[in-house]
Amino acid sequence: MNLVVLAGSGNASLADAVAERLGTVVCRSVISRFPDSELHVEIEGSVRGCDAYVVQPTGPPADDNLMELIFLADACRRAGAARLTAIVPYFAYARQDRRVKGREAVGARLIADMLRLAGFERIVAVDLHTVSLEGFFGVPLEHLSAVSLLANAVEELVVDQSVIVTPDLGAVKLAETYAELLRRPIAIAHKIRLSGEAVRVRGIVGEVAGRRPVIVDDMISTGGTIEAAARALIAGGCLPEITVVASHALLVGPAIGRLSALPLKRIVVTDSLPTPAHDSLPLQVVSLAPMLAEAAGRLNVGESMSELLTHR
Ligand code: R5P
Repeated sequence: MNLVVLAGSGNASLADAVAERLGTVVCRSVISRFPDSELHVEIEGSVRGCDAYVVQPTGPPADDNLMELIFLADACRRAGAARLTAIVPYFAYARQDRRVKGREAVGARLIADMLRLAGFERIVAVDLHTVSLEGFFGVPLEHLSAVSLLANAVEELVVDQSVIVTPDLGAVKLAETYAELLRRPIAIAHKIRLSGEAVRVRGIVGEVAGRRPVIVDDMISTGGTIEAAARALIAGGCLPEITVVASHALLVGPAIGRLSALPLKRIVVTDSLPTPAHDSLPLQVVSLAPMLAEAAGRLNVGESMSELLTHR
């Protein structure tokens, strides 16, 4: 079936790179807003009878990007696309996977339902905040992981003294995966979240004195988690040469200021979201384009996906 790639404005350069790898170009669409802020989406090329892949991370502004994604799905469906897949390199609302305090919405479930209702028959996502989110989707979810790409990228910085550090209890499994790939021990920071922007580390479990920490997480949002972990590691006597590895670099609000003030050797992230060029950050960006293109290519011809998927 003829494969077509479409994109919202969430990460146009990643979509272009995915399309290029697939030997095509992104099918143009016009995405605009009416004066009253309503979204309007129109696809310019024909998608009739096609196998359509919409590349759109739902990073900040999350709701705008999400609306573009579902409007693109609706436009494709109405224009006769035969099959519709969402490639969502960063999936927003994944941290809202349960009620924590009381009368809260479970955002992740709601978004999963919205994508299905919009017409997506399959979702491709990368390093979701929790793997169990798969159960929220009523359509097949192809959950890919950037962990081995990131581990490869950081390997040259890993030495005998390195220790893999999870900045909170939720990322222990992720840290174990990195620790196995990089053959280093792990340490665990005990983080408590005080608010959306503020966290505190109560203590570190594991040997960090005299070591070079590699902090691993699924995402860096305001940078509060990384900052708190780094400061606790420094207080625990680690060497002032910290590496940070994360799949998704949201870098919102105070993130750049917080990270710039830390003794970071390198911050290795993917291009799931557009990354700001910032001289004060030692950023290294690993592209997801080859992996996403490989996934779309296999789905297009019905080839096995198993070696691409994560079951962490
Ligand atoms: C939380 O459980 C996540 O894995 C990240 O640690 C967190 O969302 C990062 O957010 P921030 O950078 O705002 O601390």
